[in-house]
Amino acid sequence: MPESSGQPDLAEVGRGFSAKADEYDALAVTHPVVRWMRGRIRALVENELSPPGSILEINAGSGLDALYFAAKGYRVHATDIAPGMLAALAAKVASPEAGDRLSYEALSFAELGSVSGGPYDLVFSDLGGLNCTEDLERVASGLRSVLRPGGAIVWVIMPPVCPWELAQLLRGHRDTALRRLRRGGVIANVEGARVPVWYHSPGRVRRALGRDFRITRLRSFCLFCPPSFFHGFSQRHPGLTRTLMRLDDLIGGLPPFNRCGDFYALVACYDG
Ligand SMILES: C[S@@+](CC[C@H](N)C(=O)[O-])C[C@H]1O[C@@H](n2cnc3c(N)ncnc32)[C@H](O)[C@@H]1O
Repeated sequence: MPESSGQPDLAEVGRGFSAKADEYDALAVTHPVVRWMRGRIRALVENELSPPGSILEINAGSGLDALYFAAKGYRVHATDIAPGMLAALAAKVASPEAGDRLSYEALSFAELGSVSGGPYDLVFSDLGGLNCTEDLERVASGLRSVLRPGGAIVWVIMPPVCPWELAQLLRGHRDTALRRLRRGGVIANVEGARVPVWYHSPGRVRRALGRDFRITRLRSFCLFCPPSFFHGFSQRHPGLTRTLMRLDDLIGGLPPFNRCGDFYALVACYDG
């Protein structure tokens, strides 16, 4: 069971994710499902904000998205807590594509009030970083001090219901199949580190955000298309995978499909 306080041990979380930086960089290029998701998610951000708008990226990981947006002309401040991710971010800050538009800082999303450089036009969280906290209210309260009124958030989160995982019941993998539904979250093994994970429904996020945030868009990923961790599927069935991605694109934005899958992207406007 994750720590009951909802405050994970950040040193342990950072130790686990530090070992993942190279893998994340590689998968973004080699894995068709990851490439497709990142492409769609970046388009959601670009739809909300044009360059040279400012983006605060929380749980930015190795900085793949941060570098992408900086190269497009946005001003990006990327934050994370894992030393290995921060080292990868530092390397990207120094790359020519970043220009002088990319900066980074070691910062937990639980401490947004002390971020440098705000207020920002958009706060971005990609691929499940916010599943590393139970205390979304604390993140939401910090948001109010770093986001300008009229600004937006784009958050990509793992929901409790993932049909591809539930289907693992048919193969007798009960623990995998039901892990997202466990009250109080689960402990994930991230490169040998014990990382607590909570699965948040869009309703849970809406309640944490409060009335001054208005959800303007919700879409799911990998409802039909198998999640990226079903490694072999996209290699064995590339054509079928593309068809399933198209189905996700067509149907993933419609209720009730937009709240289940491997991830969903939630876009909300801060009315201030
Ligand atoms: C699944 S990775 C996603 C990374 C990145 N957003 C991406 O799309 O590749 C989760 C990230 O969340 C970071 N993280 C976990 N807890 C955090 C916290 N309290 N504050 C900031 N970052 C955190 C981890 O270090 C890790 O880099």
